[in-house]
Amino acid sequence: MITPARKLLVTGGAGFIGANFILYWMKKYPQDKIVNLDKLTYAGNLENLKEIEKNSNYGFIHGDICDVGTIDEAMQGIDVVVHFAAESHVDRSIKKPSKFIVTNVVGTQMLLNSALRNNVKRFHHISTDEVYGSLELSDTNKFNERTKYNPRSPYSASKAGSDHLVRAYYETYGLPITITNCSNNFGPYQFPEKFIPLAITNILENKKVPVYGDGLYVRDWLYVVDHCRAIDLVLNKGKIGETYLVGGMTQDISNLEVIKKILKIMNRDESFIEHVKDRPGHDRRYAVDWSKIEKELGWKPLHDFDEWLEKTVEWYKENEKWWRDVKTGAYQKYYKEQYGE
Ligand code: NAD
Ligand code: TYD
Repeated sequence: MITPARKLLVTGGAGFIGANFILYWMKKYPQDKIVNLDKLTYAGNLENLKEIEKNSNYGFIHGDICDVGTIDEAMQGIDVVVHFAAESHVDRSIKKPSKFIVTNVVGTQMLLNSALRNNVKRFHHISTDEVYGSLELSDTNKFNERTKYNPRSPYSASKAGSDHLVRAYYETYGLPITITNCSNNFGPYQFPEKFIPLAITNILENKKVPVYGDGLYVRDWLYVVDHCRAIDLVLNKGKIGETYLVGGMTQDISNLEVIKKILKIMNRDESFIEHVKDRPGHDRRYAVDWSKIEKELGWKPLHDFDEWLEKTVEWYKENEKWWRDVKTGAYQKYYKEQYGE
């Protein structure tokens, strides 16, 4: 149990989940201090943190987790590291894998070294269910904490590498670590390269939604606040050295079903669906057994998928400036390269 008031170093706090986590944490534990270390890549956006930027318990460092000087300085007096910083998009990892190895593998190892040198009380690593590879549609099995690693994209391979390093620092050097491997998050502030915000913002722009291949791919969807609640519980009650899987669903749902739900919420017909060339090595199905964190820490998802999908659509409608500012120059170039004209 970590006692208040604590000083947290959040890496990647200007990204989608990191920003939601900082907003969640500062509301719940206003006495804690947070230092956000972020490189502000295309995915980092300080607009996400506008409502707390002036809070005296919050500080921002613009820097790279691969830069030892920066991270050693950021680590001063830190009790808890919550490590979100990563290159996070599978399609970008297929086009340009090197950055993923540098940030996700080398960057994580550099942070681990610095955390060890600075005697942090906890290093919590945020990872993904994608490290377990792909399940068949006909399979009734789900991933659990004992599933063998079998990553199939440069992104998931780099996250798998980082998970192994985090565990190695626990086993070899006794660094007090915990890991959560979660499923696909959705909610406010998600960069519109990911499926759900890409679909919503395309529809708002009256554009079609690209659906890879047959669209029968299955993801487990987790509302971002439920993910933040899970990290909170693991930080406060989790056992050192342990890994917890975090998921949001009990039943499979295909990408086509997700897009049909979004179209219904937005009063559009299915002519907005455009089947496009499939992603190479596309993982068919992810499904997460989250019974360990439920049994051991009493966590379960509280945000129903249908209800919070609707609220997420509302958020993008109400925050048009946020996503229009993101969908400019570099984004347009990426979109053209990824999807054609
Ligand atoms: P994101 O791409 O929205 O944000 C990543 C953040 O990390 C950005 O603010 C970026 O500027 C920062 N960053 C990137 N490289 C950096 C570097 N070298 N140094 C410092 N900062 C750097 O990602 P996200 O969706 O918020 O994901 C956060 C974490 O959660 C990642 O580790 C990701 O692998 C994991 N995860 C995400 C999902 C999901 O559905 N989004 C699911 C499972 C796991
Ligand atoms: P994504 O949001 O990229 O997350 P991940 O690949 O990490 O699961 O994709 C979610 C699902 O949606 C995945 O099966 C790929 C599919 N997808 C599309 O069909 N079209 C798209 O334009 C994108 C970005 C994803």
